[in-house]
Amino acid sequence: MVKLSVIYYSATGHGTTMARRIADAGADAGAEVRLRHVAETNDPATFAQNPAWTANYEATKDHPAATGDDIVWADAVIFGSPTRFGSPAAPFRSYIDSLGALWARGALADKVYAGFTSSQTAHGGQETTLINLYVTLMHFGGIIVPPGYTDELKFADGNPYGVSHITGGDNQSPVDDATNAALDHLAHRVVTTAGRLSVG
Ligand SMILES: Cc1cc2nc3c(=O)[nH]c(=O)nc-3n(C[C@H](O)[C@H](O)[C@H](O)COP(=O)(O)O)c2cc1C
Repeated sequence: MVKLSVIYYSATGHGTTMARRIADAGADAGAEVRLRHVAETNDPATFAQNPAWTANYEATKDHPAATGDDIVWADAVIFGSPTRFGSPAAPFRSYIDSLGALWARGALADKVYAGFTSSQTAHGGQETTLINLYVTLMHFGGIIVPPGYTDELKFADGNPYGVSHITGGDNQSPVDDATNAALDHLAHRVVTTAGRLSVG
């Protein structure tokens, strides 16, 4: 059975919704799944005026937080982070930067990886966020499995680099059907590929 970790940071909850969808799709694809959020590093007082951020923080703060072991354990990892200034968010990068000792002993290598993100605007940096993530995964020695246009549904969500959601001007647009289908597709593709590699 393929072991899949879904490891994400989310401030205002879109990433949480996307990660849950991927975790469910990964289980549907036959994987044993760990869903782990990257713990909030900001003082809640700093986002108290943001109801969505506060609600997501309260809803997830007691859930298991990601550690390096969640990568070591897994055959495949799907990472998620909001786009901030065209790159992954700082709390997500802090988690990544905590992995040096595991990287040094090769414990992050030879696993299947992919990513997802969200941003407020259509050209707000989703692709650069995913490419930034993938540069790090190259340093891991990871096997990056992007979705490409490997299914007709990818022509609807339109992101061959991973999966991305546009949260809209008010940061409140729900994840649409095309994006949900793309999240399901990414989870299935990653689990299937990891399964093939472990059989081979
Ligand atoms: C500091 C900061 C920087 C951001 N930078 C961008 C950006 O470069 N492009 C963009 O479209 N949205 C940007 N956003 C909006 C976030 O991408 C959006 O709120 C996020 O994808 C929501 O994901 P979440 O609900 O999982 O936190 C930024 C938000 C913050 C707080």
